[in-house]
Amino acid sequence: MSNLTATAVANANIAFIKYWGNRDAALRLPSNGSISMNLGGLQTRTTVYFDSSLTADTLTLNGQRATGPALERVSAFLDHFRHRAGVQTHARVESENNFPMGAGIASSASAFAALALAAASALDLNLSESQLSRLARLGSGSACRSVPGGFVEWHMGDSEAGSFAETIAPPSHWPLVDVIAVVQEHHKEVGSFQGQQLAHTSPFQQARVESAEERLQICRAAIQQRDFDALARVVELDSNMLHAVMCTSTPPLLYWQPISLQLMKEVIHLREQGLPVCYTLDAGPNVHILCEPSAVSSLRERLVQIPGILTILTAHPGGPARLVKST
Ligand code: PMV
Repeated sequence: MSNLTATAVANANIAFIKYWGNRDAALRLPSNGSISMNLGGLQTRTTVYFDSSLTADTLTLNGQRATGPALERVSAFLDHFRHRAGVQTHARVESENNFPMGAGIASSASAFAALALAAASALDLNLSESQLSRLARLGSGSACRSVPGGFVEWHMGDSEAGSFAETIAPPSHWPLVDVIAVVQEHHKEVGSFQGQQLAHTSPFQQARVESAEERLQICRAAIQQRDFDALARVVELDSNMLHAVMCTSTPPLLYWQPISLQLMKEVIHLREQGLPVCYTLDAGPNVHILCEPSAVSSLRERLVQIPGILTILTAHPGGPARLVKST
């Protein structure tokens, strides 16, 4: 075998109902199901070249050669594909994010979804979307949700085979917008994989996990019915519950910055004034403000007046991971 190559593109995603904590960390079997929206246009593009002349895998991220843990994680991930294809060939992996470097937007979801599709295609593995989602999950849990398009639910599953994501509504179903207020550009101190290992140390994790199914049902119905008020309530509740777990873990994880809280209050205030907006935060201080399209311009007008916001990114519901012709 020589020079088998493919290029794939995948979108990042924002969770409405969050994943935090695993039943099985190695297999990334989550403690609860989750629901997200793909962020169209915030993408990773990855090319994989399996090349029999290579003596080791190599990784280039945004033009920079990566070594150490980042390369080891990618190599271990590629092993799943090599194992399936029955080959041992090493690969050269080149990956680029089109969203600003260090914009504080988690790139592991789009990165591992794009890598999964590119590697599977380069090795001619004929996988269904759910098989690909399961494999992407092994790289980063949330990556399984960047494989299908639109509004996506990751079923926690009873077993490895049952833990994958699928579309619950296509991108055209509801033109929601994610307006992302970037307040910190450097990398987070504790990455989500390490942070997730601490989830069980919080006395609130059990309550969060036990009540997740109820929030999933409310969120699913809100999406189906395009009910923004119901979505706003459950999305903010779920984000607050996630951060309650994070900040009561041992050691505590305090991802918010003062400006994060200021923005959350501002979003609530704007909603009270009738603007269809709500907030959600992942493992970092940046504030994702979900809104109806009609709210975007008023929201942006308000945000640009607030000191401390470094960049504002906007994303619409995006499609599935897809192959592109390598150039
Ligand atoms: O997939 P990971 O290990 O990067 O974890 C993602 C964790 C959150 O972004 C906080 C929540 C989520 O469901 O995306």
